[in-house]
Amino acid sequence: MTIETVGVVGAGAMGNGIAQTFAMAGFPVVMQDLSDAALARGRATIEKSLERLVKRDKIATDAAEAALGRLETATDPGALAGRDLVVEAIVEKFEVKAGLLGKLDDICGEATIFATNTSSISLTRLAAASSRPGRVIGMHFFNPVPLMQLVEIIRALQTEDAVCDAITELTRAVGKTPRVSKDSYGFVVNRVLAPMINEAINCVYEGLASPEDVDEMMKLGANHPMGPLSLGDLIGLDVVLNIMETLYGGFDDPKYRPSPLLKQMVDAGYLGRKSGRGFFRYG
Ligand code: NAI
Repeated sequence: MTIETVGVVGAGAMGNGIAQTFAMAGFPVVMQDLSDAALARGRATIEKSLERLVKRDKIATDAAEAALGRLETATDPGALAGRDLVVEAIVEKFEVKAGLLGKLDDICGEATIFATNTSSISLTRLAAASSRPGRVIGMHFFNPVPLMQLVEIIRALQTEDAVCDAITELTRAVGKTPRVSKDSYGFVVNRVLAPMINEAINCVYEGLASPEDVDEMMKLGANHPMGPLSLGDLIGLDVVLNIMETLYGGFDDPKYRPSPLLKQMVDAGYLGRKSGRGFFRYG
C-alpha cells in the first residue's frame, strides 16, 4: 500500500497546516475548499508559515519554494480523483463529513484511503457512512500543525490493519510522531486534556484562586509549559465546551460535566484568543 499523492479537503486552520506538512515532506498535494477566497486565505497562511520557518533557519529558501510548488488548489472536488490519500479537515458536523465521504466514494479510486481530522466524532460512525469502511481512519493533527509533533491515529472498528500500518508509516515519513488510539469519545489527548482545563475553570468558578494563579501553579507545580486557562484560551473555549459535551453525553458520566463558568464564558462570547478575550485579554 503506497501513498504518493495526497488530497486535503478544507483550507482552514487545520487543512492548510496539513497540506503544508505533506508538501514540505515531498508529497504533491491538492487542497480543495468550497471557495477561491478560502483557498487564497489557506495558501497565504502556508506562505507566511514557510517564510517564518526560513527566517528561523528551520528550512532553506529553495525547500520552501519547492514545497509551494507541490501545492495545487481547487474548488472542484473532482481534483481529488487519483489521490492515494484524502485527508478531510472540514466543519465538525457528522452529516457534512458523512456527505463528503459519500461523495469521495464516487470520485476516488477503490484503493484511496480516507482520513479524517475530526476531534470528536465517532470514527466508527463515520466509517459506516463510506462504502469502503475498512479504508477510513482518523488522522488527528494538532494546532498549529507545522509545529505540533503528534498525530493521533484513530482506528474505527472497521479500519483494516494494512490501512492503519500505512498511515502510521506515512505519519513518520512526514516527520511527525504517530500514536494509535481505539475509537472512543475524545480519543486519548482530548479525553485527558479537556477535563483538566475544565477542572482549572472550576477552580476559578469556586473562587479557589485567580486565573493567573491557577496557571502559575500548574506551570510551577506540574511543570506544564503553559497554564490550563491560557491553553483553553488558545484552543478556544467554545471548542473546549464542545469536547466536554461530547465526553459528558457520550460516557453519560457526571465527572465530565462542563463547568458552569465555561458555559457562561462561551455565552458571553469570551472564546479566548480568537475573540480577543477569554480568561485573559489579547491584542
Ligand atoms: P476551519 O473552520 O478553520 O476550516 C474549515 C474549512 O473547511 C473552511 O475553509 C470551509 O470553507 C471548508 N469546508 C467546509 N465544508 C466543506 C466541504 N464540504 N468541502 C470542502 N471544504 C469545506 O476549521 P478547522 O479549525 O480547520 O477544523 C477542521 C477540522 O479539524 C474539524 O473537524 C475540527 O474539529 C478538526 N480539528 C480542529 C482543531 C483546531 O484546533 N482548530 C484541532 C484538531 C482537529
